[in-house]
Amino acid sequence: MTTPRRVFIKTYGCQMNVYDSERMMDVLRPAGFAPADAPESADLIILNTCHIREKAAEKVYSELGRLRMLKDEREKSGRKTAIAVAGCVAQAEGEAIIARAPVVDFVFGPQSAAELPGLVARLDAGERGMVATDFPADDKFDALGEKSAPAPQVPVTAFLAVQEGCDKFCSFCVVPYTRGAEYSRPAERILREARLLAEKGAREITLLGQNVNAWHGEGTDGRTWTLARLLEALAEIDGLARLRFTTSHPNDMEDDLIAAFGRNDKLMPYLHLPVQSGSDAILKAMNRKHTAADYLRLVEKIRKAREDIALSGDFIVGFPGESEEDFAATMRLVEEADYAQAYSFKYSPRPGTPAAEHADQVAEEVKTARLARLQALLSRQQEDFNARFSGKVMDILLEKPGRYPGQLVGRSPWLQAVHVDAQGRRIGGIVTVRVEKTGKNSLSAHIMDKEAAQG
Ligand code: 5AD
Ligand code: SF4
Repeated sequence: MTTPRRVFIKTYGCQMNVYDSERMMDVLRPAGFAPADAPESADLIILNTCHIREKAAEKVYSELGRLRMLKDEREKSGRKTAIAVAGCVAQAEGEAIIARAPVVDFVFGPQSAAELPGLVARLDAGERGMVATDFPADDKFDALGEKSAPAPQVPVTAFLAVQEGCDKFCSFCVVPYTRGAEYSRPAERILREARLLAEKGAREITLLGQNVNAWHGEGTDGRTWTLARLLEALAEIDGLARLRFTTSHPNDMEDDLIAAFGRNDKLMPYLHLPVQSGSDAILKAMNRKHTAADYLRLVEKIRKAREDIALSGDFIVGFPGESEEDFAATMRLVEEADYAQAYSFKYSPRPGTPAAEHADQVAEEVKTARLARLQALLSRQQEDFNARFSGKVMDILLEKPGRYPGQLVGRSPWLQAVHVDAQGRRIGGIVTVRVEKTGKNSLSAHIMDKEAAQG
């Protein structure tokens, strides 16, 4: 048997990229690759990049500078290293990457991971500088084949992509350009992958999509299913105890999905529902197609279906034209909606998006000051949300080892990290605990009984 070549995939950004990196591993394994522990021991290094954050491309170029030195070092001892750039920066920059960083052997976009073995074969044949950034006519997930490669370890909490791309075109966002048009995978394939994940040990699955609640796929009965219907079918899979989905758009939050939070026992009470701003003028300029009041009404409706839902969101401060008054409206919306947790960012222009062309960009110091105020409020809400659980009894899914021997970290239904002394318990078990201490970022608890009913 030949020794496998080693590949190191460095993943940036969102959970969809984490999922895509796993799929790259799935297609590379049959092509004779095994994972490397570090870039130093890799024959192939793939940077799976993200374009959402500021200066994303610049960061990739400086990483490539470091990799060039590593490649030179390895070459001195007669070892060749191939370097590839994947993900959303690859999609956006394409050829420009090869031109600016000749150390890169090939570039491929998020829709082209299935071409990876072919690209490696071309590289082996002496070709360099390939760029694969077309949006294929076929389903990317189909082209990637079944997730059947020799058992990689499946984490207890796994991701499953059900939807990709976005047709919303928020004026600040690159996703519709880098991930392409909205696409929903058929239910049959999702269910098959979920069963496989459950067989390999997953107890919780988070369905992924840039606009996951817009999912509407072909059902196993030939009809078009909604996400709520898909979640019902997933809930029937043996071994799967918990379901989640992320990220949702307010305008696609249909009634049956809201009702699912009250009806589907396996659907956890956590919802990531970005609003971005609390000002109607800014929401309009962002092309969000909803108002702040629409959002708050929606949140109210969701809380009627599931009172204890942990609400999460995303915010952008300093969008072009944002006045002090607009920002105050965001603060008011946050006060009203009351978040369990949320992400917030300073607006930064993405080349090619409409907002980047606006003349009235907000000064950096103003953005910094607003972000600090917003984050202080969100932090306080997060701490308060967690504090409400003091003394409460809940079931947690034991997910990974903790900091100290005998300690494990579990996940609450509300996605809080829960530290427990768990001598003799196994990862993947679900145990009932009583919360002892709460903090901003986690809870600590003690186990009350044998494994809980769900376990
Ligand atoms: N500037 C700042 N934040 C952005 N996001 C997306 N694009 C930008 C941008 N140009 C944020 C949004 C989105 C999250 C994933 O990233 O809040 O929901
Ligand atoms: Fe980007 Fe989300 Fe808006 Fe789509 S809905 S354009 S992914 S921010």
